Amino acid sequence: MNHLITLQDWSADDIRGILDRGADIKLDPKQYAHAADQKVLFMVFEKPSLRTRVSFQTGIARMGGTAINYDISTSPLGAGKESLEDTVRVVSRYADLIVARLFKHEHIELMAKHALVPVVNALTDFSHPCQVLADLLTIREKKGELKGIRFCFLGDGNNNVTHSLMYGCSIMGVDIAIGCPAGTTYEPHPSVLAECQAFAAEGGSRITISDDAMEAVEGADVVYTDSWMSYHISEEEHDKRVGVFTPYQVNDAIMSHADKDAIFMNCLPAQRGYEQTASVIDGSQSVVFDQAENRMHAQNAVLLKLLGHGGPDTHC
Ligand code: CP
Ligand code: NVA
Repeated sequence: MNHLITLQDWSADDIRGILDRGADIKLDPKQYAHAADQKVLFMVFEKPSLRTRVSFQTGIARMGGTAINYDISTSPLGAGKESLEDTVRVVSRYADLIVARLFKHEHIELMAKHALVPVVNALTDFSHPCQVLADLLTIREKKGELKGIRFCFLGDGNNNVTHSLMYGCSIMGVDIAIGCPAGTTYEPHPSVLAECQAFAAEGGSRITISDDAMEAVEGADVVYTDSWMSYHISEEEHDKRVGVFTPYQVNDAIMSHADKDAIFMNCLPAQRGYEQTASVIDGSQSVVFDQAENRMHAQNAVLLKLLGHGGPDTHC
């Protein structure tokens, strides 16, 4: 069974295939108007979402399929009356694909273990692979290629998006510099770093981690940031985290140290005045809305891959 749980399971060829197919769907959506005819996507979200939920729903509709957004708050699962295992066993009898946004990464692994249909990780506390496939599509679109690109992430290094960016970039030969506060709380998970260093060695790229934001961003082609208050972080931590992450805010001074043609990215949702200033996210280097659009194209490519779709003319 094919799933998308984390990018560490996907090869450079797998990822390239998604980017090529995603670009093709974006260029000529009519060719894919019936690609997922009759297919049903089951979606369940334990956390909030705009982009992921709506891009999966609109994406499959544009290919002839249907999505169900299952409300966990009115479910036996949410009420503690039914196990996750039984929920996915049942859903596998109705739907062709399962998309889930969950707190615990072990739970998406459990879903994949018990599902009879492909499972897509729509974000866990540990990773966000769908986001990064769209990000790589966006970088390739804007910069023409991935190999040799200098990518800089500033902010929370111990973060789902950061981990998936590290996997995606290292597998695809992109240099990645992380600028984050020192220490285990805010640096990328050591096991992710170790795996990504191995990917980078194989693909000929470099990974550096620094607590100096200016050093991390020097000469970067892509400057990326994410929320300082991820969905799973308690509001009580707000003031402390603002203090810790303020030196990593992407502002005009930071952007002036990147390459002059650098693009600015944020997976969104964004808080102006926190992880980036309004001048940066609303400025000419920002590509955040193209990036958000590409969620749908990249994910449609993922859905077709997992459904075993052979090409533009064929149905799943
Ligand atoms: N970037 C992203 O996943 O956005 P949502 O939380 O709105 O889905
Ligand atoms: N790191 C963020 C990503 C949101 C898309 C979070 O988990 O909330």
